[in-house]
Amino acid sequence: MASAATEREINKWRLWGVNRLLETNTSLVLVHEKTGKPPTLDLVKSIYYKDDEEAENLLEEAKSSLRDMDMKWVILGACDFLTSCPLRTSKDYDNVLLRRSDVFRTFGKTESQGMKLYIEASEALSRFRKIRDLNNLPISHFTKEYLPTDLMEYQSSTRKIESTTKDSPPMVQIDMTTSSDVFGLDNEPSNETRSAPRIPQTLFELIKHTSYKDYKASRQGWDDEHKLEEMEDEDMRYLVVKLSNGRLPETEKQWTKDSELDHSIIGFLSFMITQEEDENVVYIYEIHISDHFRDCGLGRHLFKMVEHIGKATGMDKSMLTVFKRNTYARQWYTSRGYEEDEISPRPRKLRGGRSIEPDYEILSKRLQEQGHKKVKS
Ligand SMILES: CC(C)(COP(=O)(O)OP(=O)(O)OC[C@H]1O[C@@H](n2cnc3c(N)ncnc32)[C@H](O)[C@@H]1OP(=O)(O)O)[C@@H](O)C(=O)NCCC(=O)NCCS
Repeated sequence: MASAATEREINKWRLWGVNRLLETNTSLVLVHEKTGKPPTLDLVKSIYYKDDEEAENLLEEAKSSLRDMDMKWVILGACDFLTSCPLRTSKDYDNVLLRRSDVFRTFGKTESQGMKLYIEASEALSRFRKIRDLNNLPISHFTKEYLPTDLMEYQSSTRKIESTTKDSPPMVQIDMTTSSDVFGLDNEPSNETRSAPRIPQTLFELIKHTSYKDYKASRQGWDDEHKLEEMEDEDMRYLVVKLSNGRLPETEKQWTKDSELDHSIIGFLSFMITQEEDENVVYIYEIHISDHFRDCGLGRHLFKMVEHIGKATGMDKSMLTVFKRNTYARQWYTSRGYEEDEISPRPRKLRGGRSIEPDYEILSKRLQEQGHKKVKS
């Protein structure tokens, strides 16, 4: 707690929270309400931090964020802090902004408005924490909790799948795994993990095989590095479809030029438990089924799995992005109940009256009866 002298000093300042609410909930500094400048190092140290280095880091962070945002506002990055904040009076809700993700919400001018928004902000924070907690769960717990085992096997008697083997009936198994498992990021090299690179390469080649042309034709283009970076995102989860007693037919091996690839993989879906705007969503990043195995119900089954996970984890909706030129996939998604989402990009009007059509769209499907109420600014 600050001393009386420091409190007087604080009155010249307003609280400023750096957007680190997930990690610490404590990254707070003050900015002067008129000048918007951060306080001296000594003031920061005397209020919150004993440690020189920590206080210095905090100030640096605040200064650069202030520059970025050209702000004179009071911002609360960690709304939890409000409960222990020495400035918790009605006037301190004036001109307070909450920074959560990239969303800014203006607090009300009166205490009751401020309090109402504070409660909504706390709810938003708890939704955010939920995402973090789900992503921190070890994959074995996550699977046990949110994916029934019967969904991990796919029973199908389609001729296409059966034709992959003459002997025992082939079995389609679907494993849920993390990006670090797929890419062997946490593993020490060992005999067991030596074959790991085959899996990410196989998934990568499959994406390239099915979607390279769409990327190439789009404004964003195709970039190996960028795609791999996205695939390696630590929160990315994979549902990998494997054929246990069968093999990709020869005709399929054209996309798997490299004989080192894993030929038991016949498709996959990748997704992330995340937030879009104000809502908790399961975001489907990729879905690709190898040519030979399309129209066997595998895509439908993968969607059933991911939507089950979305519902079981309490996500508001399931979302995805699709290139507009991929009319087949767009129709397929529509037939699964996906509709254009409100955040899908709209055509951009140019000065001459011409408009630029976005080359992709964002589709979504609501998973819960009622989403949470949005905070109105
Ligand atoms: C889109 C894709 C994932 C679909 O997977 P799939 O395993 O072939 O699809 P399924 O066999 O599960 O689909 C079966 C259902 O879709 C229906 N369907 C098939 N083609 C369809 C189409 N063009 N439009 C609408 N419905 C279609 C089938 O009639 C069937 O309907 P039902 O569930 O009512 O019986 C697959 O075609 C694919 O990998 N495409 C290439 C990669 C790609 O474009 N991915 C999307 C990137 S955004």
